Amino acid sequence: MIDDGAFYDRPIPLRHPFAFYEGHIPAFSFLTLNARGLGEPSIDPAFERLFERGIDPGNLDEARRHGRTDWPDRATVAAFAAACDERVTRALESAKLEDPAVPRLVRAQAAYTILEHELMHHETLMYIVHQLAYDRKRPIAAPHADHTLAETEMRSVPAGTATLGAEIDELEFGWDNEFGRIAIEVPAFEIATYPVTNRDWNRFVADGGPVPILWRERDGGWFLRCQFEEIPLPGSWPAYVTNEQARAYAAWRGMRLPTEAEYHRAAFGSPSSEERPFPWGAQAPAAEHGNFDFARFDPEPVDAHPAGKSAWGVADLVGNGWEWTSTPFAPLPGFEPMASYPQYSTDFFDGKHYVMKGASPVTPRELIRRSFRNWFYGNYPYMYAKFRCVA
Ligand SMILES: [Fe+2]
Repeated sequence: MIDDGAFYDRPIPLRHPFAFYEGHIPAFSFLTLNARGLGEPSIDPAFERLFERGIDPGNLDEARRHGRTDWPDRATVAAFAAACDERVTRALESAKLEDPAVPRLVRAQAAYTILEHELMHHETLMYIVHQLAYDRKRPIAAPHADHTLAETEMRSVPAGTATLGAEIDELEFGWDNEFGRIAIEVPAFEIATYPVTNRDWNRFVADGGPVPILWRERDGGWFLRCQFEEIPLPGSWPAYVTNEQARAYAAWRGMRLPTEAEYHRAAFGSPSSEERPFPWGAQAPAAEHGNFDFARFDPEPVDAHPAGKSAWGVADLVGNGWEWTSTPFAPLPGFEPMASYPQYSTDFFDGKHYVMKGASPVTPRELIRRSFRNWFYGNYPYMYAKFRCVA
């Protein structure tokens, strides 16, 4: 999707250039499965160090310290990546991936870790590519839908239990921050049927509110920077904003963001006190339930998927953009860092990252499960993240 000339571009200064990612995904897979999981010998220790981990600096000053101009040329990175891929493929085909006696291989943890790690990077690469100039990428054309919505109504969710997290045996695989099952008693609350749309947000802007990062002002009107083109602002799409911006909007409306437990209650709770695996029930995520799994590169109207509504009639909870919560990212009771990637969560338990739930248009369906948690800095503007208000 990107031009050859964009290989060293760094469209988000808080992230490495594309060159890093081309080496990172295979290097991470090799290190996690082959080197550390199976005890195989190294391929290239210097490159393995260079490509092992991405960055998440808190600001541009910190980002500057990660800056480097000595990335290897593309053919060298590709050769290293191919060598990693070859070893990883061989291991997936013939190694003993599951071994109860080796912590990294318990329940084939290392193999699942590399598969889901790569899927997550499909999404993070999309929002980095989003910031690249249009003439540096190759467009994939798709029609965009928009229409006039009625004003969003609030739904009542009665007091009840929200179960966060999972027991180890409930999931084939989960990341460490998903484990530790906890039942939280959630008082009754009201929640918006739909996430806040661009039309809703435009009223906030007219009253002095901040402008979302993907909006552009042109010829006296607002346009939206989509992945491959700018279009007149679609009023029925969710507004993608930061956690801080979302809080400001909610306060302006006299409301607030949902907690992680309230999101669970609104999405998975039901009048029978039974909790569902997905908002719509037990059926595996499919196209009619929401805008996810690369069905599109951009959002859709927030009412496009009535089949995805929760038991309370709350729509668009999974797909069309992650949903911000007001809950700082923190471990669930009994948390233990995972053997195959011990820094995965622990580096981010700092009170400055907030939990997001659901999925975006480019979240692979394998990552859609009730216990999955995503998190970002409260002021990080590049994620595909929407929100809704509660009262
Ligand atoms: Fe990574």
